[in-house]
Formats: sequence, structure tokens, C-alpha cells
Amino acid sequence: MQRISSTLAPDLSLSRIAFGLWRLTDWGYSPAERVSLFEQMLDLGVTTFDLADIYGEYRCERFFGEALKLQPQLRARMEIVSKCSIRLAGEASGARINHYDTSAAHVRSAVETSLRDMGVEQMDLLLLHRPDPLMDAEALAAVLESLVQEGKVKHLGVSNFLPHQFDLLQSRLSLPLVANQIEVSLLHSLPMFDGQLDHCQQHEVIPMAWSPFAGGRLFAGDDADATRIQQELARLSKSLGLDAENGPIQLALAWLLKHPSQMVPVLGSGNPKRLVAALAALEMELDREGWFELLRAGRGRDVD
Ligand SMILES: NC(=O)c1ccc[n+]([C@@H]2O[C@H](COP(=O)([O-])OP(=O)(O)OC[C@H]3O[C@@H](n4cnc5c(N)ncnc54)[C@H](OP(=O)(O)O)[C@@H]3O)[C@@H](O)[C@H]2O)c1
Repeated sequence: MQRISSTLAPDLSLSRIAFGLWRLTDWGYSPAERVSLFEQMLDLGVTTFDLADIYGEYRCERFFGEALKLQPQLRARMEIVSKCSIRLAGEASGARINHYDTSAAHVRSAVETSLRDMGVEQMDLLLLHRPDPLMDAEALAAVLESLVQEGKVKHLGVSNFLPHQFDLLQSRLSLPLVANQIEVSLLHSLPMFDGQLDHCQQHEVIPMAWSPFAGGRLFAGDDADATRIQQELARLSKSLGLDAENGPIQLALAWLLKHPSQMVPVLGSGNPKRLVAALAALEMELDREGWFELLRAGRGRDVD
């Protein structure tokens, strides 16, 4: 599978498609079944695994770590991406209210807890999960740099940061922010128009696209926008002679892959058959008019 890298970090490359583990605790897999799912993805070339401290109410990283403990050699075959800076209210975090916390103390303790939960020495990429209105960029930059120096984190990035928020943090850091993970799908094409993906291309930042299938709404939603996209995906799929079940999944992914920013979609399905079927999008050539037909279906209007 193609790999995506940036001149900002020559020693980091991500698989063209990443595997998102937000829903890992919902899938009901035993640790051995998780091992076999991860092995299957790795064998297919999907080596980038996306997590966050809060996923599964702070349990996903432990579920992930249980699998790695059964098959420790898997670690060397993958890039582990994790995130911190959100604190969910409740016993697990001790917070009274859901909030963002980019303080040095919280970031350090969140990263150390994540490493312990996953049972690994280092994460390949740490993302600040959300921009924090109370972010002290200087103090945050200092703790991020010390986590890299200590070898706990290999590379730094952000998630859901707008270009100016990205630039502020970058202006205080001596290390590059190499990725920005943002929401992009046929139901959320805004980043293609509001400067987010242009900013990534301009600065050679790797964009990662979360919820590339809009959390399943692209195929199973019953609202007007989802229905319109489903009809267009089905029509285009038929006209290209694709399989009725898998064609729409492949087209929705091929639509993202065609974007010149070379974004890395983070697939969130826990269904191996669906994941394997989706990967056929890598071989698909969606022409310009087909791309715009899908864009029109997603936005509900023609281009001006
Ligand atoms: N940085 C952030 O703020 C942020 C936010 C959200 C997510 N993320 C990351 O992005 C990853 C992906 O997000 P996501 O899980 O929302 O991704 P997604 O791939 O858009 O959605 C996955 C969901 O869609 C369902 N689905 C897929 N194909 C379907 C079909 N043909 N029919 C019906 N349902 C279908 C899946 O169900 P099955 O499992 O049954 O296939 C699963 O529940 C997460 O795991 C996480 O790593 C990051």
C-alpha cells in the first residue's frame, strides 16, 4: 500500500489509509480476536492505528494494549497515533465538566497514562485532540518538546485545529507539527473550501480525515442529505459496473483519496469484510466529473 510522508518528518510515514479504534470497545472482540483483526489490517498494509486517551471512556487504549501484550511483535509493524487534551467529566478523569486541558501537567500525565495503558514505550505521533481556548502555546510547546526529547513521543501534530490555531502553536515550537486530523467526508467537505486542506498542502502537513464515512451516515443515514448521497453513490456505482454493496463504500473513499492534499482517511469500521472491501478504492480512478457529481450530492447544490 502507498505510504504518505512529509519532508517535515522524513522518518515518519503513514499508511495511505489508517485504522481508527474509537469504537474498539463497542465491537465486542476478545483480545485474541483483536490480534487477528490488527494482523489482518497490517497484512493489507494498513499500518497506522489511530487512538485517543478518551476513546471508549478511557478504555480503548487498554483494549489495544491487551492485544499487543498477546502479540508484542505487532508493535514494530505499526505507527501508533494517539491524542490528548480532552477531559471527560466523570470518575475516570476526576473532572466535573467536559473540558479541554492543554496544560503542561495534564498533557504530560495523559501521555504517560496512554503509554502505560497501551504497554508501549513510545507513540509515533501525538495529536492535540482539540484546540483549547485557554491554550498557553509557549507552555504547551515546552512540554511537547520535552516529551519528544524523553522519547515518549516521536512526532507531534494536532487535530481539529484551524489554520490560525495551528500557526500559533507552531510559532512557539522548534519541532514541526506534522499532521492535522480533521473531519472530512462527502457530508463534510467544508475543509476543501475553508482553507484547512490548503493550509496542510502549503505547509506539507499530513491531513488525516476522521469519520470518512460520516460515522456510517453516508450509507445508513435516513436524513435528506444522506439519502441524496446514497442515491448518487448507488447511481454512479451502477454506471461504473461496481458491486451494489461495496461500490458505494469504495466510491466514497476514492472521492477522498483523489484530493491533492493526499489526506489519510481514518476508517472506523470494525467489520473486517467492509474494511477489506473499502481498500479496493485505492485501485479506483474516479474521473473529475464523477468527483464533482459526488460533491454536488454531498453539498446539495451545483458549483457556482
Ligand atoms: N480527531 C477527532 O476528533 C476524531 C473524531 C472522531 C473520530 N476520529 C477517528 O476517526 C476514526 C473513524 O471515525 P468513525 O468511526 O466515525 O469513521 P467512519 O468510517 O466514518 O464510520 C464508521 C462507522 O460507520 C459504520 N459503517 C461503515 N460502513 C457502513 C455501511 N456500509 N453501512 C452501515 N454502516 C457502516 C461502521 O459500522 P461497522 O463497524 O458495522 O462497519 C462504523 O460504525 C475513529 O475511529 C477515530 O480514530 C477522530
